[in-house]
Amino acid sequence: MAKELRDVVVVDAVRTAFGKSGEKGIFWKTRADDLVVPLLKALMARNPGVTPSMIEDSIWGITNQMKEQGGTLGRVATMLADLGQEIPGCSIDRMCAGGLTAIGFGLTYIAAGMADCLIAGGVEHMGHLPMGFMRDPHPRSLEVMGGPTSLNMGQTAENIHERFPEFTKEMADRYAVDCQRKADEAIKAGKMKDMIIPIDVELEDGTKMVADMDQPPRAGATMEGMASLKTPFKENGNVTAGNASGLNDGAAATLLMSEEKAKAMGLKPKMRWVATAVAAVDPTIMGTAPVPATVKVLEKAGLTIEDMDIIEMNEAFAVQALYFLDRFKMKWDDPRVNKWGGAIAYGHPLASSGPRLVAFLAGLFKENPGAKYGLATMCVGRGQGYSVIFENLLR
Ligand SMILES: CC(C)(COP(=O)(O)OP(=O)(O)OC[C@H]1O[C@@H](n2cnc3c(N)ncnc32)[C@H](O)[C@@H]1OP(=O)(O)O)[C@@H](O)C(=O)NCCC(=O)NCCS
Repeated sequence: MAKELRDVVVVDAVRTAFGKSGEKGIFWKTRADDLVVPLLKALMARNPGVTPSMIEDSIWGITNQMKEQGGTLGRVATMLADLGQEIPGCSIDRMCAGGLTAIGFGLTYIAAGMADCLIAGGVEHMGHLPMGFMRDPHPRSLEVMGGPTSLNMGQTAENIHERFPEFTKEMADRYAVDCQRKADEAIKAGKMKDMIIPIDVELEDGTKMVADMDQPPRAGATMEGMASLKTPFKENGNVTAGNASGLNDGAAATLLMSEEKAKAMGLKPKMRWVATAVAAVDPTIMGTAPVPATVKVLEKAGLTIEDMDIIEMNEAFAVQALYFLDRFKMKWDDPRVNKWGGAIAYGHPLASSGPRLVAFLAGLFKENPGAKYGLATMCVGRGQGYSVIFENLLR
């Protein structure tokens, strides 16, 4: 039975502040599911008229689905948020793009008429559930994925530097310094305020505080400071703590609806879904995958990179961003890209980063009513890229 696809919109996008993982992190004593609950409550509170009975699914991207992140968090979290027992939910995994995939599934789900309204997001507490925690790779996995460096994300970034030596450490450091500058300016200008939902937390030393600001950004980063950092993934390598994203805790979520439903409810959606694409490459250079994913999504949308007025790219590593920009013939500091800074500054709590990009797109669309199309793109461990295009409805 062929059905017509329906238009789907992002009504709202919120996130927690992002924290540094570990004992000094703002969320060290906060559980992953307790990062999700305030977001669910906020989405309901910020969108009057939306009731729990309208939410037809709660889809969550989570990389390490065990301990506090296990047990089908997507289902349980809505009950923890006091939204009743009647909201179905699930947890899915595409590593770093888990949350963006949750949104992608939600968008297509609504487009196909399987739901009118749902919540999709991502969460990762890398302090409690570190990367690779309790994983048991198949004995042939290294052979099929191209060797041991495929399993270590920092080494995959070193591999890009090695295979494409035109991207130097100096270029990566310069990109990272600029990212920190853009983030600092955006934070000082209050750009994060609308999207960050404050959470009451207790720190390791017992101090109580409200987590309403990102912890990882390093205002005032300099080329000199960058130059002195160790290269932990390779002796005399290029990737450092300064030009890589960090180890972080955080969550982000979106409220998705059919455009028809949003209109009928008198809501003001932020953007309309245009197209989605996922692509895969050699896992040892996983950071190159946003390129084929973006080629594919542009083709599906019948658009070009020049049509993209705003580009939100997850900077797992600076070299991966440089590769993307070069392949699309863009300058390293193209003003359309990560205008408020990216993951090198804010951090990259794996599955929550995709919805964070969507929240940034929504904020930037609002600020730039002249902007029509926006792209969110990210690389994924094991060699994948995920790209989504949205159209600005705040024009
Ligand atoms: C790169 C990495 C190993 C660094 O971890 P770390 O050593 O715990 O990082 P830190 O934040 O403590 O930084 C290390 C040092 O660099 C310093 N530093 C970091 N950024 C800096 C900057 N921009 N300028 C100057 N110094 C900086 C820190 O102050 C710290 O100094 P110290 O050792 O004197 O305290 C870690 O962040 C990592 O693994 N990142 C990649 C995550 C990943 O793979 N994600 C998935 C992507 S697909």
